Formats: sequence, structure tokens, C-alpha cells
Amino acid sequence: MSEYIFSDAQEKSEYKRLSLLQDSFDEKSRKHLLKAGLSKGMHVLEVGLGLGSIASYMYDVVGNSGYVLGIDLNTHFIKEADYELIEGNIVDLEISQSFDIIHMRYVLIHKVNAKKIIEKLVSLLKPKGRLVIEEPDFSLAKWIDSKDIDGCKNVNLAICKMFELKGLKPYYGSVVHLDLESSGLVLDENISYLHLCSGGDDVANVMRISTNTLKEDYIQTGLCTDLDIDAYIQACSDEESLAVYYATIVTIAIRAELEKKEDSSLVCSEKTRLDGVYEAREKDDILECFEVMKLLRPHIERDSFVSNVMEQIKQGYQLFYLSKNSKLVCLAGIKIGTNLAWGKHLYVNDLVSSSSSLGYGKEMMQYVKSMAGLNNCKEIHLDSGVQRFEAHRFYLREGFKIASHHCSYKIEI
Ligand SMILES: C[S@@+](CC[C@H](N)C(=O)[O-])C[C@H]1O[C@@H](n2cnc3c(N)ncnc32)[C@H](O)[C@@H]1O
Repeated sequence: MSEYIFSDAQEKSEYKRLSLLQDSFDEKSRKHLLKAGLSKGMHVLEVGLGLGSIASYMYDVVGNSGYVLGIDLNTHFIKEADYELIEGNIVDLEISQSFDIIHMRYVLIHKVNAKKIIEKLVSLLKPKGRLVIEEPDFSLAKWIDSKDIDGCKNVNLAICKMFELKGLKPYYGSVVHLDLESSGLVLDENISYLHLCSGGDDVANVMRISTNTLKEDYIQTGLCTDLDIDAYIQACSDEESLAVYYATIVTIAIRAELEKKEDSSLVCSEKTRLDGVYEAREKDDILECFEVMKLLRPHIERDSFVSNVMEQIKQGYQLFYLSKNSKLVCLAGIKIGTNLAWGKHLYVNDLVSSSSSLGYGKEMMQYVKSMAGLNNCKEIHLDSGVQRFEAHRFYLREGFKIASHHCSYKIEI
């Protein structure tokens, strides 16, 4: 069975859904492609064509001196293409060209192997080439007005749960930049659109059709009923209803590393990083966290640090770093888990900042709180050594309560 959630959709409703997608989003996509530098003579790639309108637009812009390749798992909706068309899975295809711009909209959210697809696309980019990715975040959906608001809210919860049960992230659009960064790209733009609209608008109609197609999957999550689905579908057509149906995040990233290597005599050995919080998953990123982590854990050794963190990552640990002016200034090591005491929770194993007065800890804590929210955690927990008075004051300012005594016992071997 295909992993793509709409692979079983009825032809007619899938065609309608894809045509609504292009009516709703093409204008913004075109604007972002131009901003990414789309112009005459370029070689460009569109992955996940849908009905192919963006590939046709790119063909109009690059002209005869340029080249457009369109790839989709299934091209039967495309009757005529003025660009080169290949049917197949982007991961498996051998493509010999490289591209100035690669665009992809609403493909990765459905992919457990999203990172692998990104890595493939990075390998197809020319130096200084740009990847323009548009992906949704369903966790930002919010009902404002409808006849059965609770029913509609239940469907929103079920949508997110359905993605999670398939091993997918319903909020992927909001975190895709982490996968782009860890694949070696440098972020250029990150813009979010909340789709706030009344029933009957294009985005509401997209969600109506999707819900009709996927209702069994939603009900199977146990978070909504047949009646909730009916209420949601009705609200999607009711002009008096109002909702943020979801958000789309447009991320533009550049393949800049070759440029850095060519100029290596001018560049220091540190990576250029945009300010912000990122996850350290690759060995070199983890190693860069060593000096700051040593401030909190003075016993750790540089030689065993990476393998220790990699071992923890296998057990669900995630290490985040805050970058300021390309320097790593704060770290948070977390683990999301479930237990009888706290239900689904986020545990902070390590939180350490290179300075206590510049607000780095606060910025990282905000990120940790949002990670907890996105993962439906009910609580955040951590232990802090009794001697760390400054840290205790920080946690209390951040709204934490001192909830238990932590006891430990050393095993003599
Ligand atoms: C939700 S549709 C979006 C279509 C179009 N990008 C848009 O926004 O209107 C996702 C498209 O990606 C295609 N697709 C999914 N996985 C793919 C893969 N691994 N390689 C190529 N195409 C893929 C699907 O067949 C489908 O046409």
C-alpha cells in the first residue's frame, strides 16, 4: 500500500482537490519563486506536480533558453506538458542534470522519509541553487465560529493524531528548516501564512474534500466521531463559519557550502549559521556543542561526547542549540516520553547557556515550551542540582514549580 495518504482518493475528488490547491496557492508560490530568483535561462525542477500549473509557470519564465523538469509519482492528471515530464519517485530516479531552483509544495508532510528526499534534492542543486519548500502545519488550526465548534475542534485533533499514527509530523512545515539545515543548506527565507477563512472559500473546500476522503482515518484515531466529521464538513461550506484551517510555511534555502569551501582561505572554520534554534543530529554539529555542554557537565570528555549523544539519540534524546552570530550559545537536551506519573511529557535532561545575562536561556526555554505544545505534552519536567540557585530562580521565573524531591543512590561495584 502506498504511504501517500491520498493515494486511494477517488479520481474526481482528487482532481478537484488538486485544482483547488493551485487556485488557492499558486499566486503566492509564483511570488516566492520570483523572490528566489527564478528567471530566464534557468534550469529548474518541480517535484510533486499535482496538476502541473507551477511547472508550466516556471516554463513560461525560464523560456526556451532554460529547462524545466517535472516529476510526480503519478502523472495521469497531466494531459499536456510544455516541460519535460517524468513519472516516478524522486528518491529512486537517477537524474543527471543539476538545477538552479527546485520547488516542492505539500509533498514532504506525507513522507516518513522527508529527510531522504531533501538530501536527494540537495544533491540535485547547483552551487548557490535554491530549494523552495512549502509545507503545512496542521497543529496551528483553530476554530473561531461554527454551529458545532466542539465537533470541528475534535476533527482538528484527529487530523494531527492521524499524521502522528502514521509516523508523520502534523507540524512539519514549522520544522522543515531543521532538516534543510542539517542537510547542509543555509536558510534564506521562512514565511508563514495562517489560512483564516470562512466556509466556502478555497482552503475550506480543500479541507472539506480531504476530510471526506480521509474520514475513516480520522475516526480511527478515536478523537472524533461520524457526527464530528459531519459538523466539520458542513462548517467548511457554511459562509458564517470562520476558522484557521492550517498554516503554510514557505522556506527558501540555499546550497551555499561549495561557495564557502572555495573561499576557505577567507572563512574561519566555524559554520555560518543564521540566528535561531536548531537540532544537532549530525556528528559535527554535536561536537560543536561540546564546549557549552561542558559548562554544565564538567566531567564529560571530548572523545566520547559524540558517541554518547548519538547513543542517547537512539533512545529518543534530542539536542537543540541556539545560534547567535554563528556561535552556539545555549543548549537544551530533551526527551519526550509517557509515564504513569505525568502522562505525555517533555523532560529536560540538559539546559545550559554560555551566558546567564543575555536572555539565551529564556529564548531556549520558549523553544522547549513550544516543542512540548507541538508534541501534545501535558507537562515539562527537569531536575536541577540543589546548589544551582541561579538556575532555580530562572525556572521559577519561567513558571516552573518545585514539585518533588529527587533522590539518588550510588551502586557500589
Ligand atoms: C498534495 S499533492 C500536491 C501537488 C502540488 N504540489 C500542489 O501543491 O498543488 C502531492 C503530490 O506529490 C506527489 N508525490 C508524492 N510523493 C512523491 C515522490 N516521492 N516523488 C514524486 N512525487 C511525489 C503526489 O503524487 C502528488 O501529486
